[in-house]
Amino acid sequence: MGYMCMTLLHYFLITSCIVDAFEPVTTSAFFGVAGVGYLGNKLYKYLFETCDDQWIRFNSSNLELALNQKLFGQHVASRVVLKTLTGYMNNPNPKKPLVLSLHGWTGTGKNFVSQLITESIYHKGMQSGFVHLFTATAHFPHQKHLEIYKEQLQMWVKGNVTKCPRSMFIFDEMDKMQAGLIDSIKPYLDYYENLDGVSYRQAIFIFLSNAGGEKIAEVALDFWNKGRDREEIELKDLEMAVTLSVFNNKQSGFWHANLIDKNLVDVYVPFLPLELKHVVQCGLAEMASRGIDPDQDVVERMAKDMNYFPKEERLFATQGCKVISSRLDYYI
Ligand SMILES: *[C@@H]1O[C@H](CO)[C@@H](O)[C@H](O)[C@H]1NC(C)=O
Ligand SMILES: *[C@@H]1O[C@H](CO)[C@@H](O)[C@H](O)[C@H]1NC(C)=O
Repeated sequence: MGYMCMTLLHYFLITSCIVDAFEPVTTSAFFGVAGVGYLGNKLYKYLFETCDDQWIRFNSSNLELALNQKLFGQHVASRVVLKTLTGYMNNPNPKKPLVLSLHGWTGTGKNFVSQLITESIYHKGMQSGFVHLFTATAHFPHQKHLEIYKEQLQMWVKGNVTKCPRSMFIFDEMDKMQAGLIDSIKPYLDYYENLDGVSYRQAIFIFLSNAGGEKIAEVALDFWNKGRDREEIELKDLEMAVTLSVFNNKQSGFWHANLIDKNLVDVYVPFLPLELKHVVQCGLAEMASRGIDPDQDVVERMAKDMNYFPKEERLFATQGCKVISSRLDYYI
């Protein structure tokens, strides 16, 4: 084109020729820079976790599938978790953050369900930089540092939610948390539009606790004694057992009356004690996940050697599915 301009050189055309000659160069240079920037941005977002729907996207069918296929013996918890999560995540304007309280005996799947929840929301699951796990014994071990812990926890929650509104905080071993610690973050669980300019309404808090486990087991045993099917147990049969024991358990001091009084916990999720057949299911799943052919005989031998309660009925696995992965090694 530049050459044509030269041959057709004419006083009146000269300006437009110059523009013509340079235009393609400048535009492609412009698009080049923008393109590199665009690609760089894409690459960055591909490599590094960002607080947007590239890395954070709730998939309810993923959660449903995982709960159905990987969690055993928890029909109530499964249903409650799926329904609550789906309702909250599909609500464009929640009035408060989501607060779940998971209750039940050891090894019944509370940690596992938290993991499945994170995997249905965060691309990186538990490894996500937006998921924060706190354990009483690891993060807040010393009684005398309570005031420091309180301040720290407030700062962490506020700092992380400021950075990414869709942050998740999981508190394990709630029974071992000092009284008052959780009270320090109570305002963040409440119905405020914002606090000091930060909105916590997109955040998710999950509390895990053994409190209520015994009462839940009593209900399950009662159904069994009456010859009723375990699957007939409904949330309403267990709710009272959980809230009462949580409320009355002075030891799990975090359960301050006002956290409950103010209804800041959206839902209590009860986990039933596991029976032998569930332990077997866990064992088979564990073998499959290790790439070994699942062997019913092996797993049943292992399951039968475990401890069960109550003493007479020997109905519920004392440690649930917790120790299976290490136990299995002795039987394979
Ligand atoms: C949601 O999860 C299901 C089941 O894991 C999967 O098949 C589907 O592709 C996922 N959808 C999106 C949009 O990622
Ligand atoms: C986010 O939480 C972690 C603890 O999980 C803490 O170490 C970190 O300092 C917090 N970040 C901010 C910005 O407050």
